[in-house]
Amino acid sequence: MKVYRLHEFSGPDGWKLEDAPTPKPGPGEVLVRMRAASLNFRDLMISKGVYNPHFKLPLVPLSDGAGEVVENGPGASRFRPGDRVSCNFMARWVDGPLDDFKAKSALGGEVPGVLAQEVVLPECGLVGVPDSLSFEEAATLPCAAVTAWHGLFETGGVRAGQTILTQGTGGVSIFALQFGKAAGLRVVVTSSSDAKLERARTLGAAGTINYKSTPDWEKAARELTGGRGVDLVVELGGAGTLPKSLRAVKTGGTIAMIGVLTGPGEGVDPVQVLIRGIRLQGVFVGSRAMYESMLRAIEFHAIKPIVDRVFPFDRAVDALRHLESGSHFGKVVIGI
Ligand SMILES: NC(=O)c1ccc[n+]([C@@H]2O[C@H](COP(=O)([O-])OP(=O)(O)OC[C@H]3O[C@@H](n4cnc5c(N)ncnc54)[C@H](OP(=O)(O)O)[C@@H]3O)[C@@H](O)[C@H]2O)c1
Repeated sequence: MKVYRLHEFSGPDGWKLEDAPTPKPGPGEVLVRMRAASLNFRDLMISKGVYNPHFKLPLVPLSDGAGEVVENGPGASRFRPGDRVSCNFMARWVDGPLDDFKAKSALGGEVPGVLAQEVVLPECGLVGVPDSLSFEEAATLPCAAVTAWHGLFETGGVRAGQTILTQGTGGVSIFALQFGKAAGLRVVVTSSSDAKLERARTLGAAGTINYKSTPDWEKAARELTGGRGVDLVVELGGAGTLPKSLRAVKTGGTIAMIGVLTGPGEGVDPVQVLIRGIRLQGVFVGSRAMYESMLRAIEFHAIKPIVDRVFPFDRAVDALRHLESGSHFGKVVIGI
């Protein structure tokens, strides 16, 4: 079978396509024939060594994929051969709060990822794929969608009628838009592109702000809420956008701290946080239980993940370059 491995932290060119024997599932494990995988900004950072320069190389990239069960290892019984499955981002985070043990089971980093034709995964780290989703669509969910779900509903605690602001039109942000819309939230989307904002409107964005032509986008966000501020910000820019997010959010509101798109930046004034009672809530993807709750909502609301483009397996490096270009809207997928 074929597998990609990252051999050096040189960006997309560090991915090499290689031959490997079919792996054998051990106790509690399952052999999965992968049919699709999807890319996250994290995969680009990992390829460049900026996510964690101490990851052991070579590593098999990507946390997100979907495929068919081929064979159960000894004692594995949650799935049967032929079942359609996708993987949870952290194989060991089944339920309950996050801890260091669970956090160290993230695919495509600490443990081998899914950019291969055949992969062995622990059965506890798999979820069944609903019939309503293709393999390409299911492959978009483990990281970006679960993170958006977690940030809004598991720790964000948003309620129908509230307003959220989500940054950009990449994977996490577009899922936040789709889930927010389905849950009766008023969703404001920012983007560097008017054409992408137009597309966000067709998906149900109630407000749109171009953060390039409106650099004071936090003021525009306040204006859209009658001067009050939004109830929750899906914070994807990180250090570079957080100071403005603190001004865009209402007093007593929440910032779901998710992304680092802008890289390192200057410090944040803690006085803003305390005198306005703002809750800064870190979000690190999510558990399998969150993933399963999210799948029920996806099925009930007939939500279709927005797939920007599907690249063939032998052009996976081009897929990563496409993500790097930032020209995508939603998710970039690799067919396997
Ligand atoms: N904490 C977690 O568990 C977790 C999970 C998933 C992702 N993340 C993080 O969340 C971020 C987004 O990930 P992703 O996979 O969704 O990325 P992505 O699909 O690559 O999205 C990139 C998009 O973000 C937008 N963007 C870039 N700089 C921006 C800025 N200064 N302000 C607003 N938007 C900006 C751009 O949208 P436009 O082209 O529309 O401007 C760009 O196309 C990354 O930092 C990632 O590491 C964290």
